[in-house]
Amino acid sequence: MNIQWYPGHMTRAIRQIKEDIKLIDLVIEILDARIAASSRNPEIKELTNGKSHLIILNKADLADDALTRDWISFFEKKGLSALAVDSRDRKNIKKITDKVAEVTAEKRQRDLRRGIKNRPVRALVAGIPNVGKSTLTNSLSGRKSAKTGDKPGVTKGKQWIHVNKGLDLLDTPGILWPKFSDHRTGEHLALFGAIADNVFEREELALVLYHILTEEYPGRLSSVYHISEELDDKDLLDAIAEEKNLLLAEGRLDRRRAAGLFLDDLRSGRLGKLSLERPE
Ligand code: G4P
Repeated sequence: MNIQWYPGHMTRAIRQIKEDIKLIDLVIEILDARIAASSRNPEIKELTNGKSHLIILNKADLADDALTRDWISFFEKKGLSALAVDSRDRKNIKKITDKVAEVTAEKRQRDLRRGIKNRPVRALVAGIPNVGKSTLTNSLSGRKSAKTGDKPGVTKGKQWIHVNKGLDLLDTPGILWPKFSDHRTGEHLALFGAIADNVFEREELALVLYHILTEEYPGRLSSVYHISEELDDKDLLDAIAEEKNLLLAEGRLDRRRAAGLFLDDLRSGRLGKLSLERPE
């Protein structure tokens, strides 16, 4: 799902999140581990104020492990709990529910002191488009339909997904918006499909990727496409098109398809595990 953030979208999203936050104890904030800075919402701190907070560095299977570890220490140094996962893999679920128990231990203690026993933690999964909110929600619940139904009063009109006796999830994830503070952030978001492709020309984006790859991950491009890493910008897409035999009807090289394939290969991990951002 690609959403462009116009003021109208943003106002609706803010209103929705503020409503949802009243119902929950914990925000599970999902980031794309490959762009952990750009995929963070600029106002998350204010939005989650007073709630427990867990950061999930998702798509860790596609990210650079060393940088993911750096991100985890970065967040921990700021006093935030963070966990790296591939949320498609149900084997990770226990890791997540254990971490949720750790992050919410204080809240459960408070409940106990007030005589409230065994009340499940209520959580909201939130993040910008395409980071894996639905995937994580489905993996946590086991199946899409595992709902506890309406809880009148406090949760009127809301559906809760029962994960285990300690955790209920709001069934509609919170959709956040990314920050567009600079050109670089916009490029990174577009590279990983978090904002619509048409914000940048695909061919322009492919060149951005070319520069990043050859600088940060030398050898990747030549090993995947068997092309030189010292090509002039103007020759890159022709070289990929030629290698992959992407031709237009009249026999010319299809540069547009080459750009699309290059971006798809990045997003699906065919260019190997990589991350574009490191902590400050
Ligand atoms: P959203 O609700 O935040 O918008 O994201 P969603 O769960 O729809 O996930 C977006 C895409 O990212 C999906 O791929 C999903 O499979 C993939 N994905 C989510 N989490 C992970 C992860 O931890 N690792 C990897 N490798 N991929 C992940 P898609 O191609 O759009 O859909 P599908 O064909 O996989 O269903």
